Amino acid sequence: MSKWKVIKRVAISLVLALLLGTAAFCVTCVLLFDRSTRTIYDIPLPTVIVSSDPVVVARGEHLADSLGKCKQCHGPNLASGKDVKHGPFGISRGPNLTAGENGVRYTDAELARLIKHGVKRDGRSVIYMPSNETAWWPMDDVVALISYLRTVPPVDGEPGKIEFGTLAKLFDRMDLVTLDIARRIDHDAQQIAPSPAPTAQYGAYVAQLCIRCHREDFSGGPLPGAPPSMAVPSNLTPHETGLADWTYEDFDKLLTQGIRKNGKQLDPFMSLGAMGKLNEVEKRALWSYLRTLPARQSGG
Ligand code: HEC
Ligand code: HEC
Repeated sequence: MSKWKVIKRVAISLVLALLLGTAAFCVTCVLLFDRSTRTIYDIPLPTVIVSSDPVVVARGEHLADSLGKCKQCHGPNLASGKDVKHGPFGISRGPNLTAGENGVRYTDAELARLIKHGVKRDGRSVIYMPSNETAWWPMDDVVALISYLRTVPPVDGEPGKIEFGTLAKLFDRMDLVTLDIARRIDHDAQQIAPSPAPTAQYGAYVAQLCIRCHREDFSGGPLPGAPPSMAVPSNLTPHETGLADWTYEDFDKLLTQGIRKNGKQLDPFMSLGAMGKLNEVEKRALWSYLRTLPARQSGG
């Protein structure tokens, strides 16, 4: 056999081995995803006593608008959201949360468990709905939100929709997208936020809302798998490539009007929907927290 033939054979074997390895990896990821989302979590239902106190209900409505983002996905009247297309990954739709047609009819305790643990009535993980970003809520806030939900008038709506394919499952296992929620929450040692105050300590919790795009260390950088046309999340640390020269007023202008310090409009990918509804305490807390971060180069 000539030298070239040997090289060709070795090359073909290597390519085959690589293809087989990749296929095996993908199949394993999909199996692990399916197994994880079939897991029944044994989490007791908390005791919840809802209130009709207008102050509590108003706090709950604020949470549904802002930190909970409930209206962003379940519709402005909470009677179901629109179909959201997630590019090559799939489609989702938040179900009707009111007592109208197709309403989910959760009990107060089931709602509280879902918000804090990402566990549905059937004991399995909720998919895509970000309970990992509300797991830190103090119980008073969970009660306020549920108290508000009980005042929402019944409207007929749609059931939920979750259609995520192989690529989405693969990316979830590689931690590049977040679909399988309950496995990402530490159910035994939940970190609970103190009562809301304009402090860095509280801001560290509010900042959970930003991590999905601006990264764990808030240094920003391109999102995994994002096409080059997509806006790149900014560096939020006090580095010169980040928010070093920003003031609270600049930050507030961004969150309320969507105008950046450089005068440009914020890319609609960072939707101001729920974030635009943060109150003064939450914004001050966030800002205080971002100022305590070590200055980091963009993208880590
Ligand atoms: C990012 C979008 C998103 C946000 C934010 C969101 N949800 Fe959902 N929610 C969904 C989707 C999608 C489903 C369907 C999930 C499924 O079937 O696993 C769902 C399902 C539910 C269900 C029914 C679970 C079941 O058994 O099918 C309830 C109850 C619910 N959400 C309440 C809330 C509340 C309360 C909030 C605010 C604290 C909220 N959601 C925030 C998207 C969202
Ligand atoms: C869905 C992804 C997403 C989430 C969630 C998100 N951001 Fe952003 N953010 C972006 C993107 C993308 C940009 C860059 C926008 C542009 O280029 O116009 C950005 C830009 C910014 C900027 C502007 C910086 C500059 O240089 O002008 C600030 C400040 C900011 N985000 C703060 C936050 C805070 C605080 C949160 C959490 C409360 C948050 N973001 C949540 C995606 C996100």
